[in-house]
This record gives sequence, structure tokens and C-alpha cells, in this order.
Amino acid sequence: MNELNNIAGFIESFESSHADGTFIKLTLGKKALKSSTLNNIYLRPVLIKDEKLLSVVFRHQTSDITKNMSLPEALLLIKEHLGKDFLAASLFTSKEDIQVLFNKKREARIFASKPSLTALQEFDHDKIKRRLIKTEGSIYLQKLGLTTSDGKIIPSMNDKFRQIDKYIEIVDSNLKENFPDKPFAIADMGSGKGYLTFALYDHLVNNLKMEVNITGVEMRQNLVDLCNRTARESGFDGLSFVQGTIGDYKIEKIDMLIALHACDTATDDAIFKGISADAGYIICAPCCQKQIRNEMNPENEMKPILKHGIFMERQAEMLTDGLRALILEKYGYQTKAFEFISTNHTPKNVMIVGRKSPVKPDVAKITGQIHQIKKAFGIEKHYLEELLDKNGVGSGQ
Ligand SMILES: C[S@@+](CC[C@H](N)C(=O)[O-])C[C@H]1O[C@@H](n2cnc3c(N)ncnc32)[C@H](O)[C@@H]1O
Repeated sequence: MNELNNIAGFIESFESSHADGTFIKLTLGKKALKSSTLNNIYLRPVLIKDEKLLSVVFRHQTSDITKNMSLPEALLLIKEHLGKDFLAASLFTSKEDIQVLFNKKREARIFASKPSLTALQEFDHDKIKRRLIKTEGSIYLQKLGLTTSDGKIIPSMNDKFRQIDKYIEIVDSNLKENFPDKPFAIADMGSGKGYLTFALYDHLVNNLKMEVNITGVEMRQNLVDLCNRTARESGFDGLSFVQGTIGDYKIEKIDMLIALHACDTATDDAIFKGISADAGYIICAPCCQKQIRNEMNPENEMKPILKHGIFMERQAEMLTDGLRALILEKYGYQTKAFEFISTNHTPKNVMIVGRKSPVKPDVAKITGQIHQIKKAFGIEKHYLEELLDKNGVGSGQ
């Protein structure tokens, strides 16, 4: 990593990467004023009617506002915010990454390092496709059966690859909003064959240079053995896997809990572990929603619609995951729920991101909302709520 000393040089690097097509993205973060509702600004290239523009996302606490800008407009925007209301910036190009960090005296430190993102130099639907996971020379991707020996993604694994790449992008953007400056502990619940666990470890340690400890929890012993062997062969010292159920796994304290497609209430077990261990982040993409589907007995105006199995399924999914998000809020997490990937790659594409908030939740109000929703749909219990109540886990008040 090389230290640079010039903010103008940083802006020039952005400008020249935009000109020569190597620009991937630029993020402004670390807001100076904690009370500001604008958390981040993200810029990425877009091609609109053959014109190279920048898509700029203004990420507010509860909403995103997106605008397309010309390069001069984007430069003005960066100059207006950088070092004033945002104290960090990360520029990603396919040639190098450049990070800027301002201290309290507003003095900038600028570092350049090898590129962490790969941009496929083609515009697709007005976007540049990019991947965080590097396939070339990766031992674990081969051993786990995602790539061939020459680093090509096995066609049948393309969807899985996209899911984990997208998942890592979400973790990455959350971490960059508040970059950890101490060793970071992550648990992956229901880690399966470890695709996500390995790729996330690789990205955090080898691209972001973080000090990370990741544990995968999986009930199938053969997968745990395969993953531990592959971690050793890859030299991934901070990555290990344990056999057991999520429910039985003991965690004292954790920084981030992740779960990708942990079946039905296993996702609730995972969220419960995250809340109990006071995880700073709980990021999960649920799988099936049988528990609530079986409980539902709607005695409301939706009844005539919900006689159709398909709508009942979709309603169960919304209720299960919507209530999970509300429960997380009750326990002091700021939450977002969204589709993290197109349904072309998996129908199980809902992602819930919970981030521990310094703001105390209105527990009584949220408890009332959960009660009303359950009542309207004849739901006696939500498995996650019951776990938290039964184990006496205090809410975020
Ligand atoms: C659909 S797979 C997903 C695997 C991995 N997260 C991925 O996306 O590639 C779900 C995994 O969770 C494991 N699993 C399900 N319930 C579990 C539980 N209660 N405790 C531990 N592992 C569980 C299953 O054995 C399976 O490997």
C-alpha cells in the first residue's frame, strides 16, 4: 500500500479512470455529523444513450435517491462533500484502489493499493458488470467445485457464484460505511459447502486487508470436514468450520452474523444467535417460510385472496421476513429488506440487513405493531419472537 499526499491527485485519478474506462465505483462515507440523515454517496459509471455518465446514489437513513450526472457535475459534488461532511472516500478502478481518510483536523491521508475489484469491460444494461470474487488461481473455488482448474466458473454454478458475489458486495458496502479498526469476528450459520464463507474471508483478508476470524456452523459433518481441509490448503488461518446445529452453537460476542438460505426456522435460530451475541450486523437471506405458512389463518379482508395457494405462499414470505425485520428493530437494529439479486439467479432473493443502531427503539410501539400484524393473520407465534422471549433476551431499550 503506498501513501499519497494530495487530494487533487485523488480527484484526478477519478477523472482519468472515468476517461479511460477503468473506473468501477467511488464511495463517500464516514459522515462528519452523526445527526446527518445522508449516510453515503455512491458513484458508478452508466452508459445512457451512448453517453458515459455517473449514476449517483444518495443513501439516506431510510431511502436511496439516485441521480445521473455528467463528469463535471460529479466532480463538483465530490469537492463539495469530501473533507467536509464526508471524511472518507474509496475509489475503485481496475488499475488500483485509492482510499482517502480525513482526521479530526481535516488532514487527509491517501493510500493507493492493488485493485480489489474486477470490472468486466463491457457495459450491460447501462451498467458495468463487476465481481469482487477473483477466480484466477483460487484454490478454494476449485476445491469447492465452483471453478475449473483454469479458473473458469462451472456453468451450472453461475447462479451460486452471482449470489455470493452480490452478498459479499452488500457486506463490503456496509463495512465501508464504518470500517472496523480491530479484529473482526463473523459467524456464517448453515454454511453448507462454504462457498460464501470462503469467498467472504478471501475478500476481507486479501482485498480489504482486514484482520478477520470467520466460523462456519454446519450440521453436516462431511461438509465441515471438506471445508476445514480446504481452509488449511488455502492457507486461510482465520477460517474454520464447526459441526453442530445453529441452535446449539455458543457465541459470546460477535461483530457480524451472516446466513445464506438457512432453511425455514434455521434463519430464526441464526438471527436469535446474532441478537443474543450483540452482533453489530445481522445479514441474512432467508430460505423457506413454512413455520408462518402453517400458522396463518387469516380472518381479515385478505381471506378471499389468500384462498389461492400462490398468494398464501407470498404472503407467508412477506409476513415471516417482515416480522423478522420488525423484531430486529425492536432489538435495536436499523433494518433494510430488499431483493439482493434477480430472480433469474434464485427465487430466494430477499435480503434482510440489520445494523445495530445507537438510537433506542420504541419497544412498546414495535411490540404493538407485531401483535397487530400477527392478530390480523391469525398467527399465534413467530418462532424468532418466541426464542427471544423464552430465553429472556432483553430488547434494545
Ligand atoms: C440451503 S443450504 C445453504 C448453504 C450455504 N449457506 C450456501 O448458501 O451455499 C443450507 C445449509 O444449512 C444447513 N442447516 C440447515 N439447518 C441447520 C441448522 N439448524 N443448524 C446447522 N446447519 C443447518 C444445511 O445442512 C445446509 O448445508
